[in-house]
Amino acid sequence: MTDVLDQQAFRYSNDSTPHLMCENVSLSELVQEFGTPLYVYSKRQIIENFHAFYATLKASGKEHYVSYAVKANSNIEVLRILAEEGSGADVVSAGELLAALAAGFAPERITFDGTGKTDAEIELALKANIHAFNVESLEELTVINGIAEGLGLRAKVSIRVNPDVDAKSHPYISTGMKENKFGIDMENAREAFIYASKHPALEVVGIHVHIGSQITSLDPFIKAARSTVKFVSSLRVKSGIVLEHLNFGGGQGIHYRNVVRHPMLPKDELGEEGEYVPSLGEFVGAVLPILDQTGLKIIFEPGRAIIANACALIASVLYTKQNSLKKFVITDTGMTELIRPPLYEAYHQVAPLELKGGPTEKVDLVGPICETSDFLAQAREMPALKRGDSVAVLCAGAYGYALASNYNLRPRAAEVLVDGSEYRVIRERERVEAVAGLNEAGLTVSTVLGREL
Ligand code: LLP
Repeated sequence: MTDVLDQQAFRYSNDSTPHLMCENVSLSELVQEFGTPLYVYSKRQIIENFHAFYATLKASGKEHYVSYAVKANSNIEVLRILAEEGSGADVVSAGELLAALAAGFAPERITFDGTGKTDAEIELALKANIHAFNVESLEELTVINGIAEGLGLRAKVSIRVNPDVDAKSHPYISTGMKENKFGIDMENAREAFIYASKHPALEVVGIHVHIGSQITSLDPFIKAARSTVKFVSSLRVKSGIVLEHLNFGGGQGIHYRNVVRHPMLPKDELGEEGEYVPSLGEFVGAVLPILDQTGLKIIFEPGRAIIANACALIASVLYTKQNSLKKFVITDTGMTELIRPPLYEAYHQVAPLELKGGPTEKVDLVGPICETSDFLAQAREMPALKRGDSVAVLCAGAYGYALASNYNLRPRAAEVLVDGSEYRVIRERERVEAVAGLNEAGLTVSTVLGREL
């Protein structure tokens, strides 16, 4: 166990006062240089995560590939790393498409998802000659057909089916059931495939299925794989439609508990090991043999599994206060930097940057934002924290910065990439005067401060 842990990008140093490190860089040093809130990424962890997935696919000897879901984290430097490693990109907007192209993803490895693609986005993607649109409705198919015809181009389409499988994840991130807005249910999907096969401006190249996110059991994936394989075969036999690829989506869950371990850290409520989460190898091993029955090229589009544990969000304690019921630790970081705890009741491990020993206490770790739901952790046993201490909120790489906001006119935080003993800023902290709209008004902080009231 220790061997594996020693290789983790985020781990404590062996000093008498253990320091949390990212690769060979002390997070406390980064805090001194860049301040907080701060997202810190490990390049090595991103690459390792990608290859943990890709290696198993490559070993199959087929053309299967991984198409990173850009929505999880669209920092252009993160995208560049993945493009260089040979990943494809799954995008959901014109912005993500442009970022993916700029980062160097080959257009023939870019797919365009989403229930509400605009005409302008469809036109842009057609001109970029992307691999395929993952189409979500019959009406969208007719619109893509019209736009492609108008441009004298042919749109490659893959139809997203909804297999009606319960992913058993949080209801807000389950997508593959009939009550969800995603895809076309199996009963009606055949009609969409037939429509596409009859329209010359459309080329049916694939089928797409994505049942949800942070899925920690193999069963829903196996069910979805089986019903998709059955559907592909009946499409071939009954309707004579032959596809090139099967895109099985993303959604592989990760460990959020006990990511960083140290004897001086309190154990969390689920004990040392926490919940069992299948590894990427186990996941691919369980579904690939089923999907391979189709003989099609298989695409997986993970987001979280590639980027989540490659980032820690660093927060600093501003104040502590005890009321008659509980103790609050108020940090400079909250739902504007990481909305997952309030939005999905998500658990993120919080680890002090320095372990000094001494007693632990149960606290609510909250942010500075004027919302009751602004918390990073609730009723969490933590080493005692005081003003000026910093903590790392782990596994913040997926849907962290991507869902960050300027609520309360807070500048978005900086992002730093660590590579061995080196590090650099990959996105600057936003400037408060810009966020406050001073630039547009032709004002500066000093002109505003100097103005007569
Ligand atoms: N493919 C499609 C079509 C998707 O909609 C998504 C995520 C993915 C792939 C990547 O899923 P992943 O491997 O990251 O689970 N904000 C939520 C997660 C929303 C997921 C949206 N779709 C969270 O923080 O948990």
